[in-house]
Amino acid sequence: MKPVAKSSSASNPLDADMHLRLEGIITPMAAMPGALLPILHAVQDAFGHVPPACVPLIANALNLSRAEVHGVISFYHDFRSTPPGRHVLKLCRAEACQARGARELEAQLVSRLGIGFHETTADGSITLEPVYCLGNCACAPTAMLDGTVHGRLSTERMASLLDSCGVKK
Ligand code: FES
Repeated sequence: MKPVAKSSSASNPLDADMHLRLEGIITPMAAMPGALLPILHAVQDAFGHVPPACVPLIANALNLSRAEVHGVISFYHDFRSTPPGRHVLKLCRAEACQARGARELEAQLVSRLGIGFHETTADGSITLEPVYCLGNCACAPTAMLDGTVHGRLSTERMASLLDSCGVKK
């Protein structure tokens, strides 16, 4: 494994604290087979997103190209390159949920939040993301709010979840 190099991204540099934290994530995992995904998950857990300035450092440590790392970040819906809102709401768009009312919930969310998927409200209260099955199909439609799964959602229950996030009515 190569040592974690200093970030050279002038547009979005990592500060010293972030660089140290990143080094602490990458160094113990870099020699693992298939280290890229666990590292990206750990970076997102630590920072709330995968800052673009991390990409060259991760690529260098794993002997990958920046394009390869960026390609993986882009491919997986779970990774985000910008900081999320204070709450993250993931609406399941897979078949079982679609068949049981997820489209109505999607319309409700787009209308009330004024944003689409992969976007954050202007006040930073909530980020809306799609997800494709949360393993809770028997209780569809399903969403996940800040890591907690909510099943059998109606528009009324979804409205309550949004209220709990401080979203304006
Ligand atoms: S399809 Fe939505 S939880 Fe499985």
